Amino acid sequence: MEKAFLRALERAKEGQELTHQDIKSLLAADEQESQLLFAHADWVRQQNVGSDVHLRGIIEFTNYCRQHCHYCGLRADNTNAVRYRLSEDDILATARLAAQCGYRTLVLQGGEDVHFSPEDIARITSEVKKMGVAVTLSFGEYSRDIYQLWRDAGADRYLIKQETADEKLYQTIRPGKKLKDRLQCQQDLKELGYQLGSGSMVGLPMQTLDILARDLELMRQMDVDMSGIGPFIPHPDTPLGNYTSGSVAMTLKMIAVARIIMPLVLLPATTSLATLAPNGRELSLRAGANVIMPNVSPQEFRAFYAIYPNKASSPDPINETRRRLIALIEGENRTVGQDFGHSPKAQFQQ
Ligand code: 5AD
Ligand code: SF4
Repeated sequence: MEKAFLRALERAKEGQELTHQDIKSLLAADEQESQLLFAHADWVRQQNVGSDVHLRGIIEFTNYCRQHCHYCGLRADNTNAVRYRLSEDDILATARLAAQCGYRTLVLQGGEDVHFSPEDIARITSEVKKMGVAVTLSFGEYSRDIYQLWRDAGADRYLIKQETADEKLYQTIRPGKKLKDRLQCQQDLKELGYQLGSGSMVGLPMQTLDILARDLELMRQMDVDMSGIGPFIPHPDTPLGNYTSGSVAMTLKMIAVARIIMPLVLLPATTSLATLAPNGRELSLRAGANVIMPNVSPQEFRAFYAIYPNKASSPDPINETRRRLIALIEGENRTVGQDFGHSPKAQFQQ
């Protein structure tokens, strides 16, 4: 085993704040070292956030998007994408079904679709809140005033990933956009009292170990409540379509180090990892993850929310999927979170 790896792991076990170099050494772990890394991350998870795994239902309510992200199949320029948007009634009916099924958090996720006005989103949010669930919005970059409107309407959390901590890489994969503006959105959201979800992709073209370490350091610095880390998966109808997918092994190491350096953070076992590895959810849960976010959107639209190809999704009714996930969680000797699953960092009175 590498001396640098063992030294960094030792420092982690002593509870020291890991340096950039420590993080890089941990991310460089080989297969055997990775097992030690995952075991420690699993221990940190148990000590800090216990055995609960939180289930969140995702409603993908529109796949229209005004943005041009080079990695994403929903980008405005992809004319092969079949577009849909749910009506307000269908969004609410979907939410009601998921709430009845037992979900205590619903994530309203969409591309940046200007068809929905800020007032529409506020109205939908307040209606969904009445169903007795926590609401996460994931709808892209808007002004602070609009985030304020949605917060006032009852939104508890907002998911807006940094994608990459490297300014240059960011501008390459999100042309015309700046990381600084994304981070400003995150800062605004935090100041408005949202629980903040960030995250990044693993295996982007030109990404280095140094950048991966900085991804984690940036999330630590932003003091995020949630961090969704998943592999990049090329979509053929995008400018990055000819690149290769991110590695499952590196994604798991990123999850484990995220747990170690941000002990209280909510860490989903991402759908993208489950897409690349059939046991991706189990492997994530063993490496520090404590959230699973199944799709609860109406079946007939799911295939069209193709941010990348072959996105893992169950053909079963949502109550059946939920039962299967509960069995998966219990099979890992874990428990299913029964409460809202708020960020342990946020002292919310719900
Ligand atoms: N591979 C993996 N993840 C992707 N995302 C978008 N496109 C891809 C892709 N090709 C993720 C991004 C984004 C979210 C909508 O999905 O992290 O934040
Ligand atoms: Fe739109 Fe999000 Fe896809 Fe970018 S990643 S094109 S903002 S849906």
